[in-house]
Amino acid sequence: GKNVGILAMDIYFPPTCVQQEALEAHDGASKGKYTIGLGQDCMAFCSEVEDVISMSLTVVAFLLEKYGVDPKQIGRLEVGSETVIDKSKSIKTFIMQIFEASGNTDIEGVDSTNACYGGTAALFNCVNWVESASWDGRYGLVVCTDSAVYAEGPARPTGGAAAIALLIGPDAPIAFESKLRGSHMAHAYDFYKPNLASEYPVVDGKLSQTCYLTALDTCYKYFCHKFEKFEGKQFSVDDAEYFVFHSPYNKLVQKSFARLIFNDFVRSASSVDETAKENLSPFAALTGDESYQSRDLEKVSQQVAKPVYDAKVQPTTLVPKQVGNMYTASLYAALVSLIHSKHSTLNHKRVVLFSYGSGLTSTMFSLRLHEGKHPFSLLNMANIMDIDGKLKSRHEFIPEKFIETLKLMEHRYGAKDFVTSKDCSLLTPGTYYLTEVDTMYRRFYSKK
Ligand code: ACO
Repeated sequence: GKNVGILAMDIYFPPTCVQQEALEAHDGASKGKYTIGLGQDCMAFCSEVEDVISMSLTVVAFLLEKYGVDPKQIGRLEVGSETVIDKSKSIKTFIMQIFEASGNTDIEGVDSTNACYGGTAALFNCVNWVESASWDGRYGLVVCTDSAVYAEGPARPTGGAAAIALLIGPDAPIAFESKLRGSHMAHAYDFYKPNLASEYPVVDGKLSQTCYLTALDTCYKYFCHKFEKFEGKQFSVDDAEYFVFHSPYNKLVQKSFARLIFNDFVRSASSVDETAKENLSPFAALTGDESYQSRDLEKVSQQVAKPVYDAKVQPTTLVPKQVGNMYTASLYAALVSLIHSKHSTLNHKRVVLFSYGSGLTSTMFSLRLHEGKHPFSLLNMANIMDIDGKLKSRHEFIPEKFIETLKLMEHRYGAKDFVTSKDCSLLTPGTYYLTEVDTMYRRFYSKK
């Protein structure tokens, strides 16, 4: 197949959310810390009737129905997630309930896990399958699903929850430029989940920021090498219309793009004008380590990058700012935001994505966008995903209620023999929800 990539997508996030401004006040943080300091507006969370399995069932059912795709047409289903409900049984097998009902059990693929990178691994698996000799002509389907919750403390406002489904095939409006990829993989203890009795990660926040930025620099270096090798000219940020980042919180995305501009400056790339050069020249001689520690460089490079950030990154930030870190779904929620805000002007545009998963794994890769043909068009994706409608119909909870929910979920994590409230009054019709976990830990879901 040619132009293999994303034919269709849909996103689901819980209707339950908490405003960052309210959380900030509740936590006794200084005013503006979460909203300006982290750059976040709101955070979605799963109530006791939702989890990563119910969200993925919901998003898959919605995608198939809204785009009119017959479940029999799916030949591969890959899930990316870092939310552990079962150490052996994959989330993919739960989603098989939808396909079994239509008589299709001939579907390859299982789950991929490494922090927020699992979704990208799943996506690459599907794209590679469609591009390979093993492809049987049917669609691939990728599901990224996570519930990001942190223990009480500075990381708690960087949670979130969502599931995203991506339909993969040839002649896609969001096509891979498969040769343009740069990866960086290394061993780090920046964020990990060694305590199997808890849903919360162990996180070294400062280290995770530096690991993220180091990975970004390294991926960008390899990405630029590949571009030069295949396109025969130097790459600069001018060569892509938009940059889409894994978005734990928006401030890190602002810092990341500034970092790309600084890289272009160090490489003497064409994107950096004379004024920018002058402003950045005091930092030209910094070593890599020094450059991550320099608050002045951070400030100056963010100022220099601001107008370009507003043009090339800001249109990708809506959903991550409103929903929070969705772990594996976070990068694709940023892509969703771009389709939502710019679908009518994306024809022939190149979009560069940066995927990061702690521990650590990371890749920068390139997509080429086309209008597409109904139902697989950018316009139809924007209409079907209905981001404005979904954001507007949410229910804001006070911080006390959010914390109460987290406490209940701590208690239920890894537990058996309980029934939920089965209260689905806040859920949209068609949403799946958890009703019961029996004495053998078997989970049961209903559809509203
Ligand atoms: N008004 C405006 N800005 C403020 C205010 C205020 N009142 N108070 C603080 N700030 C700013 C700070 O200056 C800082 O911004 P800067 O870095 O641009 O200077 C920002 O708010 C955050 O403040 P910190 O004191 O640095 O925050 P803290 O250390 O308490 O926590 C952190 C932030 C480390 C991100 C924490 O939330 C965390 O550990 N999150 C999880 C880890 C994470 O998301 N890592 C990212 C990559 S890995 C992954 O995706 C999981």
